[in-house]
Amino acid sequence: HQNEMSIMIEAHDLLKKFYHHLLVNTKEGQEALDYLLNRGFTKEIIEQFEIGYSLDSWDYISKFLHKRGYSLELMEKAGLLVKKEDTGSFLDRFRNRIMFPIWDYQGKTIAFSGRILTSNQEPKYLNSPETPIFNKSKTLYNFHQARMHIRKKEQVILFEGFADVISATKAGFPYSIASMGTSLTEEQAKLIRRNVESVILCYDSDQAGIDAALRASKILSDVGCYVRISLMPEGLDPDDYIKKYGSEKFKNDVIGASITQMAFKMQYLRRGKNLQDEGERMRYIEEVLKEIGALDKAVEREHYLQQISSEFSVSLEALKEQQAQFNKSEFK
Ligand code: UTP
Ligand code: MN
Ligand code: MN
Ligand code: MN
Ligand code: MN
Repeated sequence: HQNEMSIMIEAHDLLKKFYHHLLVNTKEGQEALDYLLNRGFTKEIIEQFEIGYSLDSWDYISKFLHKRGYSLELMEKAGLLVKKEDTGSFLDRFRNRIMFPIWDYQGKTIAFSGRILTSNQEPKYLNSPETPIFNKSKTLYNFHQARMHIRKKEQVILFEGFADVISATKAGFPYSIASMGTSLTEEQAKLIRRNVESVILCYDSDQAGIDAALRASKILSDVGCYVRISLMPEGLDPDDYIKKYGSEKFKNDVIGASITQMAFKMQYLRRGKNLQDEGERMRYIEEVLKEIGALDKAVEREHYLQQISSEFSVSLEALKEQQAQFNKSEFK
């Protein structure tokens, strides 16, 4: 329903401003503001990303919306309130959280993600549910602000988290976006491809981050993107990294050191293997040969075969013969 959708968006816009006001101008918001400033968020960044704070109250927002004539049923459908099963009354979904507005590609506020202030609550980020105005799988965080920069730079950096996007933007990478805490979808990949070809994936280096990077790079290359991957050093996410080492080092040692998908896979297959050991070396070569065999472009296959050939002093012919055997055995 078009009209209901525009009312939902209007309510999001109103609350975004109210949450922001609570954060920057009120004593109730002071603790949240201190938390953000301590994390290195600046006043400017808080303005630019329209960050806010939701009060520690069960019904402040519900009353606030009611007073302004909004239907609470509709506000529940918009994800801003939750309905209590037993009494049928409406409660605020977001309480005592740092509020990150989520925008659509035009900059309209369509959802929120609320972060806890202290580590003893769950979940860390509470997100709006899917609603008529918020489709998670089609939304990319910060896309509306980043798009112009993405087109100009002809590059986009894709992060896992909101905090990473915000830190990177502050550090001089305004062409930064993130998926919505879920793995990248084909729809998001297509949206990216309509604006840019070159994508840098900058994910955490834990197992989840590695798996996510491999999945995302496949989805992106399938829609025609050229993907490079830069993984963080163990235990740091991009936001931590920038804070610890600064933007210059992030630029040179992370973004500048991004590698191709195949190089990334090779690095990954190497992990935990002792290549001095003949058996493990052979296993590594076999695994890489299978990956190389799956590449679409003959020139690329040749390139990586050459690389393996010179690294391990195995002739190209032997590698190709081995690859041909894999192909045969796959079709048996
Ligand atoms: P992370 O756990 O890496 O969070 O999750 P982060 O971005 O580093 O956040 P900080 O630095 O602790 O504040 C990455 C992304 O996964 C989603 C969010 O989108 C987050 O930015 N997420 C994470 C959720 O949706 N819910 C959660 O409970 C946790
Ligand atoms: Mn302001
Ligand atoms: Mn992570
Ligand atoms: Mn993180
Ligand atoms: Mn983080």
